[in-house]
Amino acid sequence: MNILLIGSGAREHALAKSISRSCSGGKLHCIASNMNPGIARLSTEIVVDNINDPNTVLQYAKQFNSSLAVVGPENPLSEGVSDVLDDAGIKVVGPKKRLAQIETSKSFARDLLVEFGIPGGPQYETFDSMEGVGGFINDLGDDFVVKYDGLAGGKGVKVSGEHLHSNEEAISYCQELVDSGGQFVIEEKFVGQEFSLMSFCDGTTLKHMPVVQDHKRAHDGDTGPNTGGMGTYSDVDHSLPFLREGEVEEARSINLKTADALRNKFGEGYKGVLYGGFMVTSNGVKLIEYNARFGDPEAMNVLSLLDSDIVEICDAIAMGTLGNTNVEFKNKATVCKYAVPEGYPDNPLKGEVIDVSSVSDPDSLFFASVDIRDGKFIEAGSRTVAVVGVGDSITEAEKIAEAEISRVGGPLFHRTDIGTNDVVQKRVDHMRSLR
Ligand code: AMP
Ligand code: GLY
Repeated sequence: MNILLIGSGAREHALAKSISRSCSGGKLHCIASNMNPGIARLSTEIVVDNINDPNTVLQYAKQFNSSLAVVGPENPLSEGVSDVLDDAGIKVVGPKKRLAQIETSKSFARDLLVEFGIPGGPQYETFDSMEGVGGFINDLGDDFVVKYDGLAGGKGVKVSGEHLHSNEEAISYCQELVDSGGQFVIEEKFVGQEFSLMSFCDGTTLKHMPVVQDHKRAHDGDTGPNTGGMGTYSDVDHSLPFLREGEVEEARSINLKTADALRNKFGEGYKGVLYGGFMVTSNGVKLIEYNARFGDPEAMNVLSLLDSDIVEICDAIAMGTLGNTNVEFKNKATVCKYAVPEGYPDNPLKGEVIDVSSVSDPDSLFFASVDIRDGKFIEAGSRTVAVVGVGDSITEAEKIAEAEISRVGGPLFHRTDIGTNDVVQKRVDHMRSLR
């Protein structure tokens, strides 16, 4: 079975590693946005082209005789890549365009929860003009969030107290969105600790992955601008130290209800990875957002623990047979750390050479926004490389990850605090103070 991988970040390098470990045979091909050296080494062929154009993707799928396609990022999903592949009889991991709205439209996701009585949603309203905006912000008091109602690479969300420091600033951001013709959601702000629960979904059955916590801010101590995610950790018991008994189950139940709701709404199932971004609060588990794909960096944590065959799982997602498929993860802790270009995310260096030759375990290294030029690896402008430490505790995994990421040479930086005792304890203390 030839497999087509769409996307070329560290998440897709992690998928390529898992696919190449599979017993299923068949060739791996990749349609990429950059010449990812890790994926290039593992695949029969990697082509750099427009991954967001369904017909381009279909053309390669035919050329490579692919029978199964795995879509990494959200943009191809929002452009309908899965629809076109499915119409052509190719099995796809990644929901069709209308089901991917769970990520691509914030208002769709919020409305779905209400329509199907799923718990965990905030008080919210959707706007496309300034009518009623001021009143609703006043109703919410000091704690509100304004979200552009479409894909914005994490940059469309502004949170009171963090990005918006007064009602005037909030109103002016809303006005900006109205002026650019955009719809937006204003919602209640939750206070607590965030975590990611990703579930494999074949339309009906869900198999859940270990939960993971991401770190969005660029610098140590959760300071600096928001990023795509600087690093992540997961724990031996597949829960997290700040979560109480039953809270992972609450999140699992919300993912399951959402998958059921999507199937009932559209008459066909969601096939792919359903990624719930949750926040545990003093009032239980709340839903921040949905993503229609693996998280990045979260994919590196969970795929480093996966004991089952990813190709079998992907095939079962497409065929609707996940209920009969083994999905097991090791009971180990993981810490993933990204090295990113100096100046990231606002003014990242680009085109500089990086050196990974000192990394001691190449298995734990994942290439992201890297290109190959004259046989050298160069920074392509976004998150550059990630490493994952796996251990018997978060502390042990952190030490491994920190040592490895420090061995990557080039004008890069990383967060030294992710997964350290101090930071994990701060999360635990924060929740204790809220409860
Ligand atoms: P999103 O793109 O919806 O994940 O939002 C990006 C980030 O904004 C999230 O990771 C949260 O840190 C924050 N955020 C979004 N919605 C809320 C909310 N209702 N309450 C608190 N923080 C939020
Ligand atoms: N880790 C955040 C994301 O993948 O969207």
